[in-house]
Parts: sequence; C-alpha cells; structure tokens
Amino acid sequence: MEFAISRRGRLAQPQPISYLMAQGVSGDCISLAAGLVDAGSLPTEGVAGCMSSFFAGRGRAGLQYGTTEGLVSLREKVRKRLSHADGLDVDSIPLERVMLSTGSQQMLYILTEIMVDPGDIVITAAPTYFVYLGTLETAGAQVLSVPIDEQGLRVEELAKLLGRIEHEGRAAKVKIIYTADYFQNPSGMSLSLDRRQELAALLGSFESMRPLIIEDAAYRELRFESDDTRSLWSIDGGRRVAYLGTFSKPFSPGLRTGFSVLPEGLIDPVRVVKGNHDFGSAGFNQHVIDCFIDEGLYDVHVEKLRALYAEKCGLMCKSLTQHLEGRAEWVRPKGGLYVWVRIPGLDTGMDSPLFKRCVANGVLYVPGIFAYSDRPSAPKDMMRLSFGPVSSEEIVEGVGRLAMSIEQVSSGCSGGFRP
Ligand SMILES: Cc1ncc(COP(=O)(O)O)c(C=O)c1O
Repeated sequence: MEFAISRRGRLAQPQPISYLMAQGVSGDCISLAAGLVDAGSLPTEGVAGCMSSFFAGRGRAGLQYGTTEGLVSLREKVRKRLSHADGLDVDSIPLERVMLSTGSQQMLYILTEIMVDPGDIVITAAPTYFVYLGTLETAGAQVLSVPIDEQGLRVEELAKLLGRIEHEGRAAKVKIIYTADYFQNPSGMSLSLDRRQELAALLGSFESMRPLIIEDAAYRELRFESDDTRSLWSIDGGRRVAYLGTFSKPFSPGLRTGFSVLPEGLIDPVRVVKGNHDFGSAGFNQHVIDCFIDEGLYDVHVEKLRALYAEKCGLMCKSLTQHLEGRAEWVRPKGGLYVWVRIPGLDTGMDSPLFKRCVANGVLYVPGIFAYSDRPSAPKDMMRLSFGPVSSEEIVEGVGRLAMSIEQVSSGCSGGFRP
C-alpha cells in the first residue's frame, strides 16, 4: 500500500553514510569510512564488573522507567566534569540545565525541531558533520555555511554573512548556528581560543538576531596532541549556547548516551519535546556509565584511548606521507577520529571513477561532498578517512589501496584486485 507520507517524512533522505557504515561492518573490505570507535578497546570487562555490582545493589532502578531529564547522579557528574574542564565553579551549572539524551544526535534533532520552521536559516561550517545536514534537510531549513581554516570556523566570514542576512531583512530567520568546535567531524580542526572569544563577541553584537548556538563537543575528550580549550559555552556564560557532549566517542556508542547543558529558555521546551519523543532515554545505560565513572574506570579508559588514537592517527599520516606525499594534502589532527584529505583535481564523489576503483580494490572512504550543504559549489576533491575502527595493519593496507586506486585512476589504468 502506498501511504500519504508527511512533508517531513518526504523531506527525509537516506543518509549516504548508512551505506558506508554497512560496508564497514560487512568485513569484505577495509573501511576508512566508518566513524566507529576502536572495537578492541571497548571496555567489556569493566562494564561487566559494573553491571554485576550494579545488579547486586540498585539493579531494579535501571530496569524501571527513569525521568525525561535522565539519571540525577550522572547529570551531577556531567556538571562537575564540565565545570572542572572549563575552570568554573560547579554551582555555575544548575542541575536543571543538564539533560541526558539518546546520543547527542537526539539532542541535535530535538533542538532543531524546537527552533526551526521550514524556510528558517541555520548556519554551519563548511565542511560540517553530515548527519546533522540530513536533520536540517528534514526540518526544511535553509542551510548557509561559513568556511573553516586551521583555526576552525572563520569568524570574519560569519560576521559578513550575518551582516548580509541582516541587510536583507531576514535576521529573524536565523535560528541556529551550529559549530562542532573540537576536532571537527570531518576536518579534524578545532576552533582556537581567540576565535571562540571573537565568536562570542560577534554574537553579542547582532541585536536583531537571537539564534541558538549549538556547540557540538562530541570529540572534546579525544584530544591526543593538544591541551583542552575552554568551551564556547563557558565564554558565552551559557546564555545563548547549548553545549552538547556524548559518552559515545570516549566510552561506548552502544550505550547511546549524550548530555547537554541548555540555555535557560530551552529547558522547558526540550523537556516537553523529549517527553513526546520518549519521556527519557534508556536508564539502564545511564546507570552503567554512572557506575563506570564511580569506579574510576572512565578517566583511565579515556587516557588509554588518547594514546591509542594518537598512535593510529600517526600511523595513518605516516602511511599517507609514504604513499601520497606531493599528490594529496592533509593537516594532521590533534584529536578526534578523522583525517581530512584533499586529492587536488580528482573527483572523490560516490559516482566517481576513484570511488568505484576504491570499492573494486577493497577500500572505502567518505566522499567529502557529503559534508557540504551547498553541493554544486563544494570542493569535489576531498575525502574523510577514519582511523577509529581499523587496526594498524588495516590502516597501512587501506592507505596503500587508496594510493593504488588514485594512481590507477590518474593514469587511466583499470587494474586492481578484490581481496
Ligand atoms: C560531530 C558529531 N556530533 C554528534 C554525533 C552523534 O554522536 P552520538 O549520537 O553517538 O552521541 C557524532 C557521531 O558521529 C558526531 O560526529
């Protein structure tokens, strides 16, 4: 039967990443595409220990419904950890502002649902986290973008864009400015402290606009070659910035638990809308994370991950240098899970000869085009490589296959192998 799908349902498009993720777990090729975490380091023993001590104690609570906001003791930990990271007094983050969600993705969705009507403007970086572009498309948002460089979002370009929008009389349409400002997915770049301060000052200077700033800090804890930087949220004093974090990347995506600190005016709308979605994310998962932190296992685990990802990232960059120096360009990231690579002059899109050759040679990457809202004018020669889920051997082999594919396509040769 053919159903009369709603406008929203019709606007929703399949995420290209779903295909790439499926290939990544199917095991017959090396996926440098999937943004999964390192499987071998997932702390099964620590979690099993937590679960048995949890069931010996407060186990029933984890099997019961919880609250929409989430487990109080975990929210307390979130505010303690965030205030510590940002050098603030813990009481500067009222507990009511802290909310748990089913991954930070759910909070991205809820905030967009609350803020954006079809035709409203959302500003993102270019490139940006492509799953969020799908959320914006479903919401019917008009997505405008601002380029980045090695210091993150180019604030002077944002200022020009906001000025132009104001001049056109569309200031009230600007609803969200979205920035993933720590080791961004896909570029690996972070927003420098100077730029954070400039951005906070800029936002204060546009009186005709009241956009929500979403600071997506998904990769903040996965820093391996840099010190921590104060959040934009703390510089802004939490007035117009919603800070989104997640336990997926530094701990376990399977537990799908994100956290956020919301500006005061959004606490009630988020509570109501999340109440409509699910009246609370899986409480059991929140208890497991709470226990893992209580046992002192979380920080040890994050330290271990930092060392591991530093090594994997180093190996990926070394392999790129070995095979593609002079042919490709990239900036070595200081955290996160991705290396953003440019192959000047070579189309990397999913219909391109390069992509097809890579599939034939048994290696996958994410075509960079997906990370841009304005695809016609986006650069066509970028790709995202992930070092998260692949082993050292796969990194070396995968980059080798990628280089071979580039060489074959560039020289017009169609050779290759299927592993
Ligand atoms: C930048 C960014 N934000 C948010 C998410 C969502 O993560 P989760 O929903 O697992 O917390 C991801 C996942 O890859 C991401 O890369």
